[in-house]
Amino acid sequence: MRIAISTGGGDAPGLNAVIRAVVLSARQRGWECFGVRRGFDGLYKRGGPRRFAYGKDWSGPDRRRGEARGGLIPLGADEVRGITHLGGTILGSTNRGNPFQWPTRLPDGTIGEIDRSDEILEAFAEHRLDALVSIGGDGTLAIAHELSRKGLPVVGVPKTIDNDVVGTEATFGFDTAVSTATDAVDKLHTTAESHDRVFVVELMGRYAGWIALHSGLSGSADVILIPEIPFDIEKVCDKIREREASGRHFSMVVVAEGAKPLNGTVVVKEEARAGTVERLGGIGAEVAAAINQRTGKETRSLVLGHLQRGGSPTTFDRLLALRFGSAAVGAIEAGDFGSVVVFTPPTVSRRRIADVIGRQKLVSLEGGIIMTARGLGISFGD
Ligand code: F6P
Repeated sequence: MRIAISTGGGDAPGLNAVIRAVVLSARQRGWECFGVRRGFDGLYKRGGPRRFAYGKDWSGPDRRRGEARGGLIPLGADEVRGITHLGGTILGSTNRGNPFQWPTRLPDGTIGEIDRSDEILEAFAEHRLDALVSIGGDGTLAIAHELSRKGLPVVGVPKTIDNDVVGTEATFGFDTAVSTATDAVDKLHTTAESHDRVFVVELMGRYAGWIALHSGLSGSADVILIPEIPFDIEKVCDKIREREASGRHFSMVVVAEGAKPLNGTVVVKEEARAGTVERLGGIGAEVAAAINQRTGKETRSLVLGHLQRGGSPTTFDRLLALRFGSAAVGAIEAGDFGSVVVFTPPTVSRRRIADVIGRQKLVSLEGGIIMTARGLGISFGD
């Protein structure tokens, strides 16, 4: 048996742990493993009109070996030694590599999308691969599902720091991101208090506010703004004024990048282009300016950004990632293709990829964590 592993979409701490678990579990069964470079890029044919329209290509040097080795990297015990604790992915990743919507420059000079999925299937056959472990978030799993419908034997592994994949209690990377965000909120608290300031921290979370909610509650934020609860800026300011009146001259506001005001929209930093999704960012600065203007309080804002995607995975994320990797090999052994491994505590089980894609797991407004936060007096701006 020859299996390939690919990591797609934004990276998340724990990807390397999944890779290691897949490789070691496969080797126990006498199987061979290959890593696909940079999402699905390592399976595209070289040359021709193949270059990515925005100028990036996969055929750079393999940094683990210091030499160019093409799109597939043979993975044995040596290649995955000592990587469980490493952030990022040794295979590289991209959130711009959808084979069904590949952006390319058309003869008229404009950029359009072409379907390159057949190349993936051809390369798969040429390399005599028997199965693919596709590790990624909603976008990558949707691609995996389409490839599966075309006959590719795929098993998915859910990944995202945003924790918004449906059907799994958690995705690896989330716990690490929350830990990083909580640490940032803690650090900002002391300087906010020293200077009697309001601090607004913008965290990741495009559609779901899991990171903001968990780190805001853990970091004792006064206001948490999440995409699931459109906020009224006056209510946010009321909370700050209320604290001011009770002698608390500083406040901490945690806002998810996808949060939006009542009757308003998300703040877009970069519009979507062919093959890409829009980039969010800037709501933190807008909220800070509004607070300053309405309350007169000196207010600073900070975007934590990609720091949340980096660093060594927490123990929880390592364990989840290792369990997912091992379960993915189990799924291949069982011939359960088109499935995705999911965390259904206390076990790791499997669902159909089709059942988890195309929608997000949002924060439940009646959920325990929201209720706990409200019970502690945290404002959601509603
Ligand atoms: O999906 C994970 C995520 O971290 C989102 O929260 C965020 O909007 C996005 O990735 C950022 O992606 P990029 O690396 O393209 O800026």
